[in-house]
Amino acid sequence: MCGIVGYIGTKRSYPILMKGLHRLEYRGYDSAGCALISDEDNNLHVYKAKGKVSDLEATANEKDTTGTLGIAHTRWATHGIPSEVNAHPHISESGNITLVHNGIIENYVTLREQLKKRGFTFHSETDTEVLVQLIEYTQNKLGCGLGNAVRNALRLVVGAYAIAVIDKRHPDQLVAARKSSPLAVGVVEDNSEFFLASDASPIVEYTNQIVYLKDEEVAIIQRNHPLKVYNLKGTEADTEVKEVDLDLSMLDHEGYPHFMLKEIFDQPNVLKDCMRGRVVESPYSHAPQVILSAVTNNRRQLLRARRIVIVSCGTSWHAGLIGKQLIEHFCRIPVEVAYASEFRYSEPVIEHDDVIIPISQSGETADTLAAIQLAKQQGALVYGIVNGVGSSIARESDTGTYIHVGPEIGVASTKAFTGQVTVLTMLALALGMIKGTVEQDEYEATIRELQLIPTKIEKILLQNDKIKNLASIFTYAKNFLYLGRGYNYPVALEGALKLKEISYIHAEGYPAAEMKHGPIALIDEEMPVVFLTNHHRRYQKVISNLQEVISRHGRILAIIEEGDEQVKNMVTDFIEVPSTLSCLAPLLSVIPLQLLSYHIAVARGLNVDQPRNLAKSVTVE
Ligand code: F6R
Repeated sequence: MCGIVGYIGTKRSYPILMKGLHRLEYRGYDSAGCALISDEDNNLHVYKAKGKVSDLEATANEKDTTGTLGIAHTRWATHGIPSEVNAHPHISESGNITLVHNGIIENYVTLREQLKKRGFTFHSETDTEVLVQLIEYTQNKLGCGLGNAVRNALRLVVGAYAIAVIDKRHPDQLVAARKSSPLAVGVVEDNSEFFLASDASPIVEYTNQIVYLKDEEVAIIQRNHPLKVYNLKGTEADTEVKEVDLDLSMLDHEGYPHFMLKEIFDQPNVLKDCMRGRVVESPYSHAPQVILSAVTNNRRQLLRARRIVIVSCGTSWHAGLIGKQLIEHFCRIPVEVAYASEFRYSEPVIEHDDVIIPISQSGETADTLAAIQLAKQQGALVYGIVNGVGSSIARESDTGTYIHVGPEIGVASTKAFTGQVTVLTMLALALGMIKGTVEQDEYEATIRELQLIPTKIEKILLQNDKIKNLASIFTYAKNFLYLGRGYNYPVALEGALKLKEISYIHAEGYPAAEMKHGPIALIDEEMPVVFLTNHHRRYQKVISNLQEVISRHGRILAIIEEGDEQVKNMVTDFIEVPSTLSCLAPLLSVIPLQLLSYHIAVARGLNVDQPRNLAKSVTVE
């Protein structure tokens, strides 16, 4: 939710800021803005536009965009509609201070009323404007510099923030702070320049030396001075510089029309990355094995776990439902899967011998983060499964396994889902082995099959043109039903979610056998039903469910196992996926569903990478 970028140094800031905003557009894209201190007149220039970063560039075109200090923002509206006036940066009463913000100020109404009484005027409907006015008020009252004003002002604030602030009277200084919203500072060795961003992606092409600010830390960034970080009380904090290696090619379409399609096609390679060094041959027996350092290092606590609770949202929650089946099957530990947003407010009973598994692509989802903070307070072990390296959830977790699928830019999650399921499979196998709840034969057979998954996905991807043609048949459907059983039930949910979010077609996922308890009433010749018939232990029962839809003239698209002549003879439209073990079926059956929703959305002329109302990283409740 909202992306912020800042630069101070020797280069012109504007192109760096715009490139950074494009990289962060996945976080929000309803309006954008920047503030620059000009080389020409030493004045503050603020440009804003409703719409995307490209609209901002069009607005700023031919205006004064000089200067080596600047901040910029791409917005996902929370308080106030997307509009130029609500776009950031916001400017203080005197016009000296300007600020960009990601997060929500919960006590903004009270603060605004107090500031109004002191003569401050407000122009926008945002919660953010209160911050810039509060900083100016604090500065005037205390007669202090910008850093101290920011620090003292933030002590009055309730809520989440990552902010970048500049003062036109101090063109050599940028102040940043964070609480519950992420913020990274890129540093270069001689301190001649600094880069600021909501994640590392706008920074890595200039430096891989990154400091992730911690909660309630304020960074004073000055050209040619070392970075200084303080807590809100004013005590200097230690900074840890992390070396971040990000493959820049991952931040590009690389010839694909959309990030989503590229990321779907990335899956064979990134799943190999995900397994690299983790799925290995035993040096003694040459038998395959899974080695996860987080499992080895936390063996004692994992072995005594009486319950595992998976907390996550959206697609990551669907991965969690698959994780439940995997862990219960291989480890015989009961698993609950909770929506993080429900879990945190449900007065959950958490025991110290519970293991909490947050699953998150971004590692920044506010509800998931809050859920694990709650679990930690109760003494449970938090084992994070995260993609965002160095993200808040990764840092808050006691231990965990990165999915290592590279940055996911398309708003609809694809490769992160298969990465999460791959990590959950490895976790279940590794834990099952140390618990002794999985037979050696099954353990080895599952690992061998897992190693084949990337090649099998490549085979499915070869059917892209066929899936595109099938998509054209269904482009104008108004509703869809997705049905699957067992391991394929969460895939049905995920297929429906993918379609909803990028095609704006209403879709529901159901356990196939539940259909007759209600949704069957919806079936007619207008209702496409996507049936996941592949790899089910109770195949014949799925076939009966399929028959029930056919008898009611439902329009079926079946995802079948290669060579399944029985279903081929029953339906007109089908997509074949290679055969695999039933516990690995989701890694294959989800691929045609991702492609189907992609092609339907493209055929409807929609913006696949930036669907309406959505943002990639949901850092608000
Ligand atoms: C769907 C999607 C969302 C996310 C959800 C959780 O395609 O991307 O449903 O899965 O917002 O996000 P993370 O995994 O970043 O915690």
